[in-house]
Amino acid sequence: MDDPLQHPEFDSSIFRDVVGRFASGVSVITTNDEGHDFGMTASAMSSLSLDPPMILICVNRSAASRQAISHARVFGVNILHEDQASLAVHFATPKADKFNALSVSRGAMGCPRLEGVLAWLECEVVEEVQGGTHSVYFGKVKEAAARDGRPLAYFRGQFGQLYSRNTDPVAVSLREHVLGTLSDDEVLNLESLAHGLGVGVPDIQRSLSSLMAEGVVYHDVEHGYRVRHLTEQRIARSVEAACAIEMGALDVAFGRTTDRPSANEIEAVAMAVEELERMLVQGNMDDTTSYARANSHLHEAIVSLARSPELLDAYRRLAVPGMLVRALGFADGESVRERQDEHRRILECLRAGDPVGARLALFQHAHNSQASRGNALRNRSAGHDAADVGAPLTQTSATSGSS
Ligand SMILES: Cc1cc2nc3c(=O)[nH]c(=O)nc-3n(C[C@H](O)[C@H](O)[C@H](O)COP(=O)(O)O)c2cc1C
Repeated sequence: MDDPLQHPEFDSSIFRDVVGRFASGVSVITTNDEGHDFGMTASAMSSLSLDPPMILICVNRSAASRQAISHARVFGVNILHEDQASLAVHFATPKADKFNALSVSRGAMGCPRLEGVLAWLECEVVEEVQGGTHSVYFGKVKEAAARDGRPLAYFRGQFGQLYSRNTDPVAVSLREHVLGTLSDDEVLNLESLAHGLGVGVPDIQRSLSSLMAEGVVYHDVEHGYRVRHLTEQRIARSVEAACAIEMGALDVAFGRTTDRPSANEIEAVAMAVEELERMLVQGNMDDTTSYARANSHLHEAIVSLARSPELLDAYRRLAVPGMLVRALGFADGESVRERQDEHRRILECLRAGDPVGARLALFQHAHNSQASRGNALRNRSAGHDAADVGAPLTQTSATSGSS
């Protein structure tokens, strides 16, 4: 099948879609020209040189700020904090007096510095070049400051937060504690969790939002955060729904009359299969979190063949990876190997351009997954009954449903 990116004259919407996958931070570029303040939201900012310290920004030639920067020869870069999305929207809308009702201070060269930003740079323009629709400014950094916090992120046309579920040590420890030592429906005591992990309650709250997204915990108004009950029925329903979305994604992807899945898209599935294989061969199956993450990359790569953010979002909201972590911890190596053979079968069909075969292989995979996760869960219940489940982290977390 034709890969549109192999052609030099591809559609500009494809270009936008592709470059939109390069996640960035968000800044507000400001300047002061002859006593007037200008500001615009910009993601096209990059560091350029360390010695001398330089950055570059790309400004659309139709933006009011462009003429002002060219004339004033200075600009400020306000790198936005994760809670400043409203400022990003404000400065992306062309209007006069964008600074009305905003509290600002000023850099040494007079550029407006917004309150609460994550970082700040003020630069002198040393070169201006034209590139297509944009002017590119090379700025020599004259002032730079930063504070702790996380940035506002921008990815595929949407603002978001940048946090890492698997490298955030608080989330990792909390997940281990919840999955390893707490029982279904147990109420989490945030203070004692914070105390046990040696962190603040806000850190626990942040990590809990990851665990909620994974389906490991839930929130009820009366008791607060609780450990989600992992029933066989719930696993079965989620796996069924995930399978329906994956098969639907294949229908969409292969049902298109033109523009069927490209070699690159199928390669993304292949890379995910190889990553799982590597983990299996290395035998590091104790790290169920990493295995579950790699497994979800594979399934998301299949759903992504539909090129539908809505389908991918629906798939992610099923939080199957979180359930997999809980069930996999008690799964036997043989069933994991069998699931991987099924992954290979799905990939073979995709490579052969055989959507009917891929659909069937997916269906069988989901069916077998349901069964092996159900078994894993039964083994877990048996293990739990027998084990002396201690609570090393907290003695005060309430048990089974009491507040
Ligand atoms: C997230 C985001 C990033 C943007 N990045 C840029 C950019 O890098 N360069 C640019 O010229 N416009 C960018 N824009 C659009 C400008 O912010 C927008 O055109 C603005 O109205 C220009 O303001 P001005 O005409 O008052 O100067 C971006 C908009 C958003 C929402």
